[in-house]
Amino acid sequence: MKHTLPIAALAFVAAPVFASEGEYMQPVTHAATKAECSECHMAYPAGFLPQRSWTMIMTTLEDHFGENAMLDEASRAEIEAYLVQNAADAGGRSSGLLYRVAPDDTPLRISEMPWFRSEHDGEVSSRKLKKAGSMANCAACHRGADRGIFED
Ligand code: HEC
Ligand code: HEC
Repeated sequence: MKHTLPIAALAFVAAPVFASEGEYMQPVTHAATKAECSECHMAYPAGFLPQRSWTMIMTTLEDHFGENAMLDEASRAEIEAYLVQNAADAGGRSSGLLYRVAPDDTPLRISEMPWFRSEHDGEVSSRKLKKAGSMANCAACHRGADRGIFED
């Protein structure tokens, strides 16, 4: 079990990440992304997913969580470039958001990442979840989500 120690150490340092920086996440600033990716849900901030996730999402839009979200190639490529350039690990940056995400794992949902689960599990009442409809509906519980504010 040579991985036990590093994972335990990570869990220990990852806990305070959101006490300090997680309440704010730069909202989408790119016009085309804002327009095209907010039709069915909020335009999720690029900094919530790693580069490989955005690439995967942007190259599988014909089957996007059961919907067809296809775009013309020029818009698709422009949006992918914006999301990748602003991703959690852009420019080799490390991010507490990638806590416990294996390098060969490509999360497609923010709401299924380990940090997300540890922030939300046990914090959300079933009444609130029912009202929101899904954990992907950030703005239902975080009224400042469009401005990048995710505090209570
Ligand atoms: C035609 C509707 C539609 C459009 C347009 C659309 N999406 Fe989605 N998207 C969905 C649906 C449906 C889900 C699943 C929502 C749920 O689980 O409640 C989803 C989920 C997601 C998720 C995962 C949310 C989570 O953490 O659970 C991401 C990331 C995402 N979309 C990115 C994008 C991006 C980037 C674009 C713009 C290129 C986009 N979407 C445009 C319908 C759409
Ligand atoms: C059903 C309600 C609900 C939904 C939907 C929801 N959250 Fe949360 N979120 C909470 C609660 C409750 C907390 C814990 C209390 C707190 O710290 O704000 C929380 C905490 C957080 C935190 C930590 C904030 C801090 O103060 O440290 C972040 C970041 C966050 N959520 C982002 C998101 C994102 C991104 C989405 C959508 C993909 C989302 N949430 C969807 C209810 C929700």
